[in-house]
Amino acid sequence: MTRAQIIGTGSYAPEKVMTNADMAKLVDTTDEWIVDRTGIKERRVAAEGEVTSDMAVKAAVRALEMANTRADELDMIIVGTISPDMPMPACAAFVAHKLGAKKAFAFDVSAACAGSLFGMSIASQYIQTGAVKRALVIGVELLTRIIDWEDRNTCVLFGDAAGAMVLGPSADPNRGILSTHLHTEGALTDILCIKGGGSKYPMNAEALKQKLHKVSMNGREVFKFAVRSLTDAVNEALVHNQITADEVTHLIAHQANLRIIDAVIGRLKIAREKAWLNIEKYGNTSSASLPTTLDEANRAGRLKPNDTIAMMAIGAGMSWGSALVRW
Ligand code: COA
Repeated sequence: MTRAQIIGTGSYAPEKVMTNADMAKLVDTTDEWIVDRTGIKERRVAAEGEVTSDMAVKAAVRALEMANTRADELDMIIVGTISPDMPMPACAAFVAHKLGAKKAFAFDVSAACAGSLFGMSIASQYIQTGAVKRALVIGVELLTRIIDWEDRNTCVLFGDAAGAMVLGPSADPNRGILSTHLHTEGALTDILCIKGGGSKYPMNAEALKQKLHKVSMNGREVFKFAVRSLTDAVNEALVHNQITADEVTHLIAHQANLRIIDAVIGRLKIAREKAWLNIEKYGNTSSASLPTTLDEANRAGRLKPNDTIAMMAIGAGMSWGSALVRW
């Protein structure tokens, strides 16, 4: 079987830094509370006029450069995002146009913070069948425009960023994406959502007044569910590939909360130094988080051929999953 391999990675974070001290000027919070509960020290905020597809393109250009691939060679573009330029058309269409990816079909995946993992899984299947030779998978979020800046339960958590991966067929059957396992629990749609703007609560003056267009979350429920389901998903990947936790070289995790990552690796008995962490600098960047973290580890020279990389992500839906990659 032809496996898909990640042949290029790229990321982008806007220049503007917003520290916890800056947050404390907006809502009743402290640096100590945010660091203790989440591990976040600062996050990035997109510039005025900058839109989601602009950020996606910046990360994509870097990934394409590393993959030695021209945009017009791409067959497929998948963008994981819940904060696209517009509700319609897909953010991926704007990205394809800005990149000049004339040949590629392009669409968005809505799996919130698990969006890039879901996108990677889809692209991997297309490459395995031979239907696609070059795929670009992007996770991008401009969350600072859709969070409620008066809600301290959510606004301190999120930030803006983009991460990208170029996938192609692996020349070595033992290397590449070994497995992906995806899950959804639709009974939990209400613990993390943006209620307004769809068919249930169309956008009108009343919906705006109630801030239904902003992210709302039951943090405690999300936390508990995340720890349980991410642990199970990584275990599922290990069992499927007959690999022990000791054999995992790196853990690339969605950076939602340092305590979630710590709880999961504690249960899995994966050594902390194997987990690449950047939540301190960026906060939770949703679907951008996984590819951004992967790119940082890659560009730091940490990922060596044949290393075994476990990936995990979870987001609204609840949607979550894992991947195992032999680099
Ligand atoms: N600053 C100070 N106090 C805050 C605060 C903030 N930014 N946000 C909430 N609080 C307060 C709450 O109002 C509550 O006060 P109360 O006890 O008087 O009601 C208290 O802190 C404890 O709130 P609680 O929700 O129990 O805190 P927590 O330990 O669960 O931490 C989160 C809150 C949001 C950090 C945590 O639940 C979390 O990270 N959940 C997962 C969120 C996530 O990852 N979402 C994205 C998934 S992709």
